[in-house]
Amino acid sequence: MKNVLVTGGAGYIGSHTVVALVEAGYNPIIVDNFSNSSEKVIERLEKITNKKIKYYNIDCCDLVKLEEVFKENQIFGVIHFAGFKAVGESVAKPLMYYENNLISMLMVVKAMTKYNVKNLIFSSSATVYGNPKSVPIYEDFPLHVTNPYGRTKLMIEEMLTDYTKVNKDFKVALLRYFNPIGAHQSGLIGEDPNGIPNNLMPYITQVCIGKLEYVRVFGNDYDTVDGTGVRDYIHVLDLAWGHVLTLDKLAKTDENLLVYNLGTGKGSSVLEVINEMSKVYGKPIPYKIIERRPGDIATCYANCDKAYRELGFKAKYNLHDMCETSWNFQQKNPNGIR
Ligand code: UFG
Repeated sequence: MKNVLVTGGAGYIGSHTVVALVEAGYNPIIVDNFSNSSEKVIERLEKITNKKIKYYNIDCCDLVKLEEVFKENQIFGVIHFAGFKAVGESVAKPLMYYENNLISMLMVVKAMTKYNVKNLIFSSSATVYGNPKSVPIYEDFPLHVTNPYGRTKLMIEEMLTDYTKVNKDFKVALLRYFNPIGAHQSGLIGEDPNGIPNNLMPYITQVCIGKLEYVRVFGNDYDTVDGTGVRDYIHVLDLAWGHVLTLDKLAKTDENLLVYNLGTGKGSSVLEVINEMSKVYGKPIPYKIIERRPGDIATCYANCDKAYRELGFKAKYNLHDMCETSWNFQQKNPNGIR
């Protein structure tokens, strides 16, 4: 059984990917410092997978400790999720973002190189496309970022691209995620933000559970179907499976730099998401239109043909499934994973 090191494996996308890896016959090993997740996630993963999950409470910026993990385990590949991810916070604390996100990636690559581990998947983001010239967005669109968080993603993509040019047997996949929402059907793991959520879906579910009064819709004067922002929401379970397919691909390809969009190819507006969630919730969800959020764009959705062609990746869950599982998770964990 191949060992796959999952940094940030207790986080939202990481934890769902750990489940997918077990289902696919890989043996995930988690490295997480639990700075934005709970150690309880590990027990829950064990419950879902019915398997002991090995984990290390380590900061990826700590090369000495990270190397210990590589020394102790024969690693086939690494999926690097660990990193800070809040756009607004990155604007307020840029150095914190550059330090954590860049150094952790650098240390992972150094450790991989020292221990001869050749397969790496990096969690990138559609944020690297900035405000795209058109939609759907293809992988070869120009890259442009507008905040420090996005810049760390782009800088890491560039750093890894440079590295693959001179290390032909070091294989990298850059996965550009669109907007993951939803949760595992068990309701044991899901998106568990600290404080008031920045992202739409956890905000909506917190309104439904009564923690927040109404959804703030950031603008209804965009050039979209109903004036509200359009995004490509993808079920986190589909996204997680995309990592399994990418690992399988890395194992058999001769190419050493792969880039894929992971989305559904379909955009939904903020009001469409609220409306779909109302059906799941069983009554209208209160919302108020307020001003635009600085930095937001009107429309962002993926062309996912490349991932389908080369990986066989196709999202199978729809917006209803995403709303249902997000709400199930919120109801089962009114105060998050504590
Ligand atoms: N929105 C609201 N109210 C909210 C939160 C969001 O109306 O309380 C709107 C936004 O204006 C946007 C849409 O809902 O139109 C989605 O917003 P999110 O904050 O959920 O997601 P973003 O598309 O802004 O950003 C997400 C991730 C980023 C990532 C980006 C890539 O948070 O990390 O997708 O496209 F970079």
